Amino acid sequence: MHYRKLGSTEAEVSEIGFGAWGIGGKQWQGGKDDESIRALKRAFELGVNFVDTALAYGDGHSERLVGQAVKSAFQRIFVATKIPPKNGVWPATSDTPISEVFPYDYIIQSTEESLTNLGVEQIYLQQFHVWTDAWTHTEEWRRAIEDLRKSGKVRYFGISISEHDPDSALEAVRTGAFAAVQVIYNIFDQTAEKNLFPLCQQVKVGVLARVPLDEGGLTGTITEDTKFEPGEFREMYFKGDRKRQVVEHVEALKRDLGNAPGTLPEIALRFCLSHRAVTTVIPGMRRVATVESSCRAAAAGMLDDKTLAILKRHAWNRNFYE
Ligand SMILES: NC(=O)c1ccc[n+]([C@@H]2O[C@H](COP(=O)([O-])OP(=O)(O)OC[C@H]3O[C@@H](n4cnc5c(N)ncnc54)[C@H](OP(=O)(O)O)[C@@H]3O)[C@@H](O)[C@H]2O)c1
Repeated sequence: MHYRKLGSTEAEVSEIGFGAWGIGGKQWQGGKDDESIRALKRAFELGVNFVDTALAYGDGHSERLVGQAVKSAFQRIFVATKIPPKNGVWPATSDTPISEVFPYDYIIQSTEESLTNLGVEQIYLQQFHVWTDAWTHTEEWRRAIEDLRKSGKVRYFGISISEHDPDSALEAVRTGAFAAVQVIYNIFDQTAEKNLFPLCQQVKVGVLARVPLDEGGLTGTITEDTKFEPGEFREMYFKGDRKRQVVEHVEALKRDLGNAPGTLPEIALRFCLSHRAVTTVIPGMRRVATVESSCRAAAAGMLDDKTLAILKRHAWNRNFYE
């Protein structure tokens, strides 16, 4: 495992972080808690020291599993979690006042809940689970994060940026209040490279590259016949003829890659790590086999320029979250 410095913090975090949405259950069906715990422990054995979870993932279930696994780790694990929007609306809209989404007492109370679920005294990185720059120059969130920092309950703060809208938190990044941002970055959605990444490099803010496998689209395992459990998030994400579109794009990608070494998911993870603004890539993982594959990808290092030039051409502008 290789490590990169998280923005201007003291943390050296593993290039592969453990994305812990799936292990929360509910929106991701089919996981099993004992398997999730095994996957987390295997990740820690292989040098993973960063986990991204959220209070909203299975109503605290993901945080509780992460807390359980972290207790048995031999090295320090940096845990990032998130404050869900009080109004339950993803993504944020610029005409919604922050008082409806992140009022002072709610920020404090959500953090307390996460501390209890994780079973720790301090959260290393507490992120706002939605954001819009319309809120950046308001006062209450700043007072709340200052109080949480002073009390020692949170070390650093971050923002999880809205899907396919990487420019919606540029003003917030410039304030210096945040140690890291989390953003969709993968072969299909490369938009963060334009404005967000250069800014993060300039002001030394860490980048967590999320959804590196397009919710499974870039694993190469989705076919037109793939079925998801009723009510599962991916039933919506891959609805209608979207699976066919994904198959077409993946086939074209594979054709262009020819005999480039490594599996498609490994190449997809290495694509993210090949950008120097990225601190860690956080694939969602629930099984030991996927953990081992992701760690292998990081060990293989950055992609060469020829492969990167091919991948550049496969950017695909669409929003399946709608
Ligand atoms: N708004 C937000 O803040 C937000 C939104 C989405 C995601 N996130 C964060 O980002 C993380 C990653 O996103 P995601 O989980 O939604 O999607 P993702 O990482 O793009 O895709 C997850 C899927 O990829 C599979 N996978 C992972 N590593 C693999 C490998 N090496 N080889 C083959 N398959 C592999 C997983 O399989 P298995 O499940 O079978 O292991 C799972 O089906 C989340 O877990 C969460 O921490 C944050």
